[in-house]
Amino acid sequence: MDVVTGSFGYIGKYITLHLLDLGREVRTITTHPTKPNPFGARVQAFPYSFEDPASLIQTLTGATTLYNTYWIRFAYGGLTYEQALKNTHTLFECARQAGVGKIVHISVTQASINSNLPYYSGKGFQEKMLAETGIPHAIVRPTLVFGKEDILVNNIAWMIRRFPLFPIFGSGDYRVQPIFVEDLAQIAVAQANGTNGSIVDAIGPETFTFKEFLQLITTSLGRTTKLIHMPSPVGIAFGKILGMFLRDVVLTENELRGLMQEMLTSTQMPNGLTRFTDWLEQNKDTVGASYSSEIARHFNWSTS
Ligand SMILES: NC(=O)c1ccc[n+]([C@@H]2O[C@H](COP(=O)([O-])OP(=O)(O)OC[C@H]3O[C@@H](n4cnc5c(N)ncnc54)[C@H](OP(=O)(O)O)[C@@H]3O)[C@@H](O)[C@H]2O)c1
Repeated sequence: MDVVTGSFGYIGKYITLHLLDLGREVRTITTHPTKPNPFGARVQAFPYSFEDPASLIQTLTGATTLYNTYWIRFAYGGLTYEQALKNTHTLFECARQAGVGKIVHISVTQASINSNLPYYSGKGFQEKMLAETGIPHAIVRPTLVFGKEDILVNNIAWMIRRFPLFPIFGSGDYRVQPIFVEDLAQIAVAQANGTNGSIVDAIGPETFTFKEFLQLITTSLGRTTKLIHMPSPVGIAFGKILGMFLRDVVLTENELRGLMQEMLTSTQMPNGLTRFTDWLEQNKDTVGASYSSEIARHFNWSTS
């Protein structure tokens, strides 16, 4: 039996699917145990219950591998990065006490406790905590992850479909190396039998500048949306106004800084096979057809 956090979310869902395909029994730990379960009886759902470690230990007992996706994009609804780190610590400690055989942890490219971006430094602290538990583990660090339930690429496409203009923040010359979510799931599951302490980046086969990435999406969708350069503070202000209408956080300043600092790139050789260009061609009729709200997904899921 394996435990996956967030099987009803994005990356956790694909790790779960891959494990089920391999004939594994899967339990999930989730914020939304009552959310409609796409896996039916094949996956049992349990709450994170950070306040009740005994019940978390019980959920984790008997797990060969814990696949951990737990993290937050931004502080919201009283949940800060600090609290998310404390929760991560509780999760790892409960896994240790439950005798979990291995933790495969989903991090992010260039995670570092020294990063000036709290998302990336938090991921760095998560990795450090994991190493300190003494549990055999592996760390998988994806770049930007694309797939059906993705939020960022979907919402870029949504805006390109609807608006006559779309901002290129700054020069647009910074790069991204998107990885397909199913390739990432495969890489993550392969780590269950890999070397203890390994750190593997998960990188797609194509590299784009952000400007090229936007141009590709615009052309694939058959739109004539004008891509206009604008200073990043203007782009952030634009995102905030849009977020007010959509009741969502569209893009945070830190995410934009991360993008512009090329945090979603790697110096390792690509290990994902699926090309974003091909995926986009196959999904051009559906990508961005409706808006995906991070807030609705996590805090008001009945409307997501
Ligand atoms: N998507 C990307 O492009 C990308 C790129 C690099 C790294 N990552 C990393 O991959 C992991 C999974 O991310 P994902 O894209 O699959 O997103 P996701 O579906 O939102 O998964 C986030 C995970 O954190 C849990 N969580 C609990 N409270 C949350 C909250 N308030 N807000 C958000 N999540 C909360 C989720 O559980 P529930 O679903 O049960 O709430 C889920 O296990 C994260 O650690 C993320 O840092 C993602």
